[in-house]
Amino acid sequence: MTQRIWNFSAGPAVLPESVLEEARDNLLSLGSTGIGILEHSHRGKAFVAVYEETEALVRKVGGVPDNYRVLFLQGGASTQFFQIPMNFLSQDRTADYLVTGSWSEKAEEEARRFGQTYISCSSSDRNYSYIPATCTFSPNPAYAHYTSNNTIFGTQWPGLPPVPKEIDLICDASSDIFSRPIDVARHAMIYAGAQKNLGPSGVTLVIIRDDLIEKGPKNIPTMLQYRTHAKNDSMYNTPPTFAIYLVGLVLKWIERDGGLSGIAERNQRKAAKLYSFLDQSKLFKPTADANSRSLMNVTFVTGNADLDAKVCSAASKAGFDGLKGHRSVGGMRASIYNAFPEAGVDALVEFLKNFEAANPSA
Ligand SMILES: Cc1ncc(COP(=O)(O)O)c(C=O)c1O
Repeated sequence: MTQRIWNFSAGPAVLPESVLEEARDNLLSLGSTGIGILEHSHRGKAFVAVYEETEALVRKVGGVPDNYRVLFLQGGASTQFFQIPMNFLSQDRTADYLVTGSWSEKAEEEARRFGQTYISCSSSDRNYSYIPATCTFSPNPAYAHYTSNNTIFGTQWPGLPPVPKEIDLICDASSDIFSRPIDVARHAMIYAGAQKNLGPSGVTLVIIRDDLIEKGPKNIPTMLQYRTHAKNDSMYNTPPTFAIYLVGLVLKWIERDGGLSGIAERNQRKAAKLYSFLDQSKLFKPTADANSRSLMNVTFVTGNADLDAKVCSAASKAGFDGLKGHRSVGGMRASIYNAFPEAGVDALVEFLKNFEAANPSA
């Protein structure tokens, strides 16, 4: 087999090797069924068992209270950007958006199609390099929406945003879902595309409080009503069976690894290694403010675009993939989600150290 390399992709991203191996073993036959996981009917006993186990694991690993539903939807987090306001925002109401990057910007833009939005806070004045300290809210908003981790800009809410308890809080957790413990009960809804921390692309995890499900109008397309998916256990239409199966395997891997607190500890340690190198480096500097740094996406620059390109090209030759920063930040971005091995972070730090030593006058 070709040697696997250090994959810093922002998503789809690296998956645990043991998960890939187990999935490979079940491609031809899921357990002793004689039918591969990709080939099972979603209505059959074997897949229903996979589905039920995955749903139970989301509840157990995430600490999801009984009054929440777990849904596995399609269309990515981008579909949630409009499905949420389509269900919960009417022409006569306002929805509040905490805008901390391009993804929250996009979510807010979609909401404007359905009603009024209010920008509770924004860090666009400094290219989204920080998490705002204060927010304001409109009177009686339908909900407040925030993005817990800003994949592109390398910032992350260190904890819950300062949203009053009486406002229904909705979180786009696409790039840090289950990377640390999360207070589900404080949210009305949490959603995330699976392809960074939970599995492959193709499935969006939605955790939604019961009372919200029935709030949505009944005259919108059936597939866009949350009640449709809640009533049918996410099987109103054919669900992304393989993606759900893989999410289940990843959740079992998280459980084995100490659950969310174990994963959080490891994620802290990985990010700290990288940031402490960057903080003492004379060549590289992190782009995010120290108190807003993401543990998932570490963004850094040399301050010279040509040199950044040289770093990326040397890194790629040395077996590190996906380090080029997003065009709106430039420089480098190391995405080190749950499944990214600590040894890969050590290897990157060593590589950057050596690059700096070889380019002293840069
Ligand atoms: C924070 C965040 N929200 C939303 C999205 C969009 O997700 P999707 O591609 O699943 O629609 C992304 C994609 O990278 C993201 O990082």
